[in-house]
Amino acid sequence: MAVLADKCKDILVTLVDIDKERIKAWNDKDLSKLPVFEPGLSEIIKRNRDKNLFFSCEIAKTIKEADMVFISVNTPTKRSGFGAGYASDLKWVESSARQVADYASGHTIVVEKSTVPVRTAELIQNILSESEDNSIISSNKKSFSVLSSPEFLAEGTAINDLENPDRVLIGGEDNDAIKSLSSIYERWIPANKILFTNVWSSELSKLTANAFLAQRLSSINAISALCEATGAEIKEVSNAIGADKRIGKKFLDAGPGFGGSCFQKDILNLVYLCRYYGLEKISNYWEQVLIVNNWQKERIASLVVEKLFGTVTNKKIALFGFSFKANTNDTRESPSISIAKDLLANGANLMIHDPQVLPSQIEKELSSQETKRFSDKKGGWCFNRDLNECVKDSDAIIFLTAWDEYKKLDFKKFSQLMRKPSWVFDTRKIISKNSLKGTGIKFWQVGMGNCNPL
Ligand code: UGA
Repeated sequence: MAVLADKCKDILVTLVDIDKERIKAWNDKDLSKLPVFEPGLSEIIKRNRDKNLFFSCEIAKTIKEADMVFISVNTPTKRSGFGAGYASDLKWVESSARQVADYASGHTIVVEKSTVPVRTAELIQNILSESEDNSIISSNKKSFSVLSSPEFLAEGTAINDLENPDRVLIGGEDNDAIKSLSSIYERWIPANKILFTNVWSSELSKLTANAFLAQRLSSINAISALCEATGAEIKEVSNAIGADKRIGKKFLDAGPGFGGSCFQKDILNLVYLCRYYGLEKISNYWEQVLIVNNWQKERIASLVVEKLFGTVTNKKIALFGFSFKANTNDTRESPSISIAKDLLANGANLMIHDPQVLPSQIEKELSSQETKRFSDKKGGWCFNRDLNECVKDSDAIIFLTAWDEYKKLDFKKFSQLMRKPSWVFDTRKIISKNSLKGTGIKFWQVGMGNCNPL
């Protein structure tokens, strides 16, 4: 919405949320306190806030005055009830639709922006139609058009993804509403990149796009293990296969397993949908993408234990990177969480560093862990902003997020601080073998059949 306001100065954009603290943070004069860390976002907020971009808790008034409402609430995986562990919880979509139904006036276009299971627009439409019918006899006559326009931006590159998208999708039946929405996008996006579909295709395309991307990552991660076993090199393999235009170069970096709020949730949704429609084999097929992803995270934790003489009890390990990818402070489903938990369960003492994630967030993610501080008996963790302090007396450093600042570290210095034999585990392929030359540090890198000797 910030990018939309930036591109369309004549359109008034108001973001509303029931969370007052969050709105307060979005309005904070100090732009470093915005609730989301995203490169380029604070500059856009600075340029447009309080001009045509507003953040507010006045939900009723804002809906009443709006010609178009974007529903952009979260749709997490259900934790209990029917479909628990697979289906998306739509309670916030429903409550938002009810608020729109209650407060709207005149004609309102409602755009489903949240990632949702197929046929959610129907739920929104049903709620709005009730309100339409009830308003016929009142002085405030209401009407609605529902469109689906899912978002394809990735965190960390969100601004560029929004300014130069590969495509924009609009699903719907009402031609006037479709034209209104597409005329907004056309202010900065070439018309040939705007695709029109029916609502269900639009909803399904979003789930499928994420499922295909995640499937690619599980495929390359699976091959990374085979490279390690055979002496092949994953980068050489991914370059060779990516040179085939039909496969393409992007999204082929092996890693510790994918994280983020979307891939796992969307695949679980797809698995649930397939089961619901009796497509058991197809549902098993997609579930395998998640099974391989979890396996990748587990195998990395277990190989760290194995290399450190089969035990990490009371050993100090530096864990670098807690966000699910670089350039974001988002930790949702980060591979660092399950790898850290596995190491803690094995008695390790973790020194955690991340340039953007706050210790309170790490605490939240690791909260199921009984002990949080170092102790003699069980594993614990500490957060430290000083990389040298993290590394001091440690047996190993594990790189889990590809932050730029991890790419040029002084391993000569680190080797003097670490206990011998010392290890570097690079799950992101950001450490060059050369930078470890002469340090005596043992090296493991994802998908690298032949790391040693240096
Ligand atoms: C993903 C999709 O890429 C977006 O198109 C989509 O809009 C978004 O989900 C969403 O549904 O909201 P995001 O989760 O922000 O975006 O980040 P990605 O860049 O896709 O990365 C996901 C995970 O895959 C990260 O843990 C990342 O480190 C990992 N990854 C990505 C790799 O391990 N290797 C790669 O080559 C690429």
